[in-house]
Amino acid sequence: MNQERERALLKKIKSREGITGIIGMGYVGLPLAIEFAKAGFPVISLDIDEHKVNRINAGKSYIGHISDQAIKVLSEHNCLATSDFSRLGETDCVLICVPTPLTRNHEPDVSFIKSTAETIARHLHPGQLVVLESTTYPGTTREVLKPILEHGGLTAGRDFFLAYSPEREDPGNTTFPTASLPKVVGGLTDRCLGLACALYESIVAAVVPVSSPETAEATKLLENIFRSVNIALVNEMKMVFHRMGLDIWEVIAAAKSKPFGFMPFYPGPGLGGHCIPIDPFYLTWRAREFDISTRFIELAGEINTAMPLFVLAGVVEALNDEMKSLKGSRILLLGVAYKKDVDDMRESPGLRLMELLQQRGAEVDYHDPHISVLPATRKYRFEKQSVDLTSESLQAYDAVIIVTDHSAVDYDFIGREAGLIIDTRNAMAGRTGVSARVVKA
Ligand SMILES: NC(=O)c1ccc[n+]([C@@H]2O[C@H](COP(=O)([O-])OP(=O)(O)OC[C@H]3O[C@@H](n4cnc5c(N)ncnc54)[C@H](O)[C@@H]3O)[C@@H](O)[C@H]2O)c1
Repeated sequence: MNQERERALLKKIKSREGITGIIGMGYVGLPLAIEFAKAGFPVISLDIDEHKVNRINAGKSYIGHISDQAIKVLSEHNCLATSDFSRLGETDCVLICVPTPLTRNHEPDVSFIKSTAETIARHLHPGQLVVLESTTYPGTTREVLKPILEHGGLTAGRDFFLAYSPEREDPGNTTFPTASLPKVVGGLTDRCLGLACALYESIVAAVVPVSSPETAEATKLLENIFRSVNIALVNEMKMVFHRMGLDIWEVIAAAKSKPFGFMPFYPGPGLGGHCIPIDPFYLTWRAREFDISTRFIELAGEINTAMPLFVLAGVVEALNDEMKSLKGSRILLLGVAYKKDVDDMRESPGLRLMELLQQRGAEVDYHDPHISVLPATRKYRFEKQSVDLTSESLQAYDAVIIVTDHSAVDYDFIGREAGLIIDTRNAMAGRTGVSARVVKA
């Protein structure tokens, strides 16, 4: 029976007739839906957010780096978005791309995975394949997702198929678009693995099968912890070299001439985004159950979280040199997105910097070509709008802090018009015609 179901689903996948439901149309789910539609699969995009559903069906993007044209691929292929989760009953494959944040106590919040699993369970039928894509700790697929899905009496690995495949989407990265990224897949059984691999082989350049969902879950965490720790290391080097009067960016440029054994990471004002500041703590939490502490992760978190304070100290010192106090100064933050060329400000160090500056009496504005209004976040509610960059406005600020080095900003213009620039990204390096005083921090 199991074998028959496997054969039937494999046939549907190979012929690209398998109806694929994707739950969570955010930064991860939306590009994934587009890839499946492009590959010829009938896709049902599901989200609880009606606004996103309506935008997809109208062919209008709500994510900066994804064009209307890209979204229209869905409607052109008759792939509708819906918030009607009973449509899951029609699907052959279900991919889960819902958020996995941390709770207030810095513990994994898998409530989105749980509620999604409960919804799927109500519509689960024999022969379906369910794949979790959300980043999470090793054990989630087997210990959290599987029991909920099995509530209705079907057994994973026998009646339906279950796998984990982490998402490697790098928003805004045009060098490595979704389809070019190898996809790691771990199945609950060999059959689960085979089917999930067949599904992803239809849309990505390569599939990397691993022995279990836990290994696939751990792979994603290792990748993100690697980034977090290396960014912390280079941030620490920045502070050390700064004190020694050395330029970290020059040091990195020289070090990366070594053709092996060194990989450049770049310092900044801190760490942001939905992944790198959060995911490592999923492992920390899980490791505690195994009586082991994750010292590198904690240390990296400490260093990265403290970086806005280092920038703040640089601003205070630079103003002091000009006989000015931070209190009462007018400061412009250039870029509040957590990284270059995206419209995502989740966990952005720019927000923390804004808070630190305001707490000390500075008047703070921001400019970000990708974020016209600052939305409220779990932590902050600033109610600010991006200001225009003009000669007059730039001259009126006591300092301009480059927080995010968006490509759409004219740094030569900033260099000509501003008086003092605090550069946390090395964005002003090598520019000519700069009359502003540029201080790296
Ligand atoms: N953003 C990235 O760069 C990135 C990269 C790799 C992995 N991830 C991981 O992918 C997952 C999703 O991240 P994201 O950035 O796409 O998040 P997101 O917040 O952009 O999107 C999540 C979507 O899920 C929807 N949603 C929430 N609960 C739901 C429910 N119960 N049913 C249906 N839809 C629901 C939300 O409305 C939202 O549209 C997370 O686990 C994240 O860690 C993200």
